[in-house]
Amino acid sequence: MTSPSAKSSATGNVPRHVAIIMDGNGRWASGKSKPRHAGHRAGVKSVRSVVEAASQRGVEYLTLFAFSSENWARPEEEVNRLMRLFVDALRREVDELHRNNVKVTFIGALDRLQPALRDKISQAEEKTAGNTGLQLIVAIGYGGRWDIIEASRAVAKKVADGALQVDEIDETEFARSLQLGTTPDPDLLIRTGGEQRISNFLLWNLAYAELWFTDVLWPEFDAKHFDEALLFYSGKQRRYGHTGDQVKVVGC
Ligand code: IPE
Ligand code: IPE
Ligand code: MG
Repeated sequence: MTSPSAKSSATGNVPRHVAIIMDGNGRWASGKSKPRHAGHRAGVKSVRSVVEAASQRGVEYLTLFAFSSENWARPEEEVNRLMRLFVDALRREVDELHRNNVKVTFIGALDRLQPALRDKISQAEEKTAGNTGLQLIVAIGYGGRWDIIEASRAVAKKVADGALQVDEIDETEFARSLQLGTTPDPDLLIRTGGEQRISNFLLWNLAYAELWFTDVLWPEFDAKHFDEALLFYSGKQRRYGHTGDQVKVVGC
């Protein structure tokens, strides 16, 4: 069957939106007797491969979990190194992303970031705003619960201002105020690093995502693993509460 948000390709249905929890950098580094930040640095190569693979396979949206609201609690040294790595990665990668027609946007509590990183983020968003290829969404300082609270505040404010009636609050209206706004929900969630949990990622938007977990640590993840996840996805029947027979008949 073809879900509303999938399309056909030689390998079957390609998810329109893939979200990835890029986990396992620290363990990759420990396994090589390196400091944790070496693992984060090594992970940039995997981001490059996955962005390229996603573009080539016809994925429209790729959302990467780079730093969670809970990751602020890590040792200051690791947080500082990560923030510097984000600045460096943006400095190095944005021209190439732009050449490849990738549109980059960021979600999360970005106002908590240092000005140098916020500047790089704005520059990347501005430079790539008109691009029509893959939409790359990077989550930094993002938490699913934070997102829902912020959206609730925005909706409450609209009601208080008289711009919205309480009865008009429905799923579509609420989702509009979430960080992903009108972006279609992820069809496929990939988590590397062996854990099988959501870790406060897109709690609302992942409601019907297909979940694919791998023990592969993020710095080892490449296009071949990405294709394994796409193959897993192509074999899924998405029922959204219907029976399998209903889905076969109406293709809902
Ligand atoms: C994911 O790798 C990167 C971030 C959370 C920033 P980790 O740093 O969590 O790596 P592990 O899970 O400790 O191996
Ligand atoms: C999730 O990984 C966040 C990111 C990959 C950015 P964590 O390593 O922080 O998740 P937990 O703490 O193991 O749940
Ligand atoms: Mg981890």
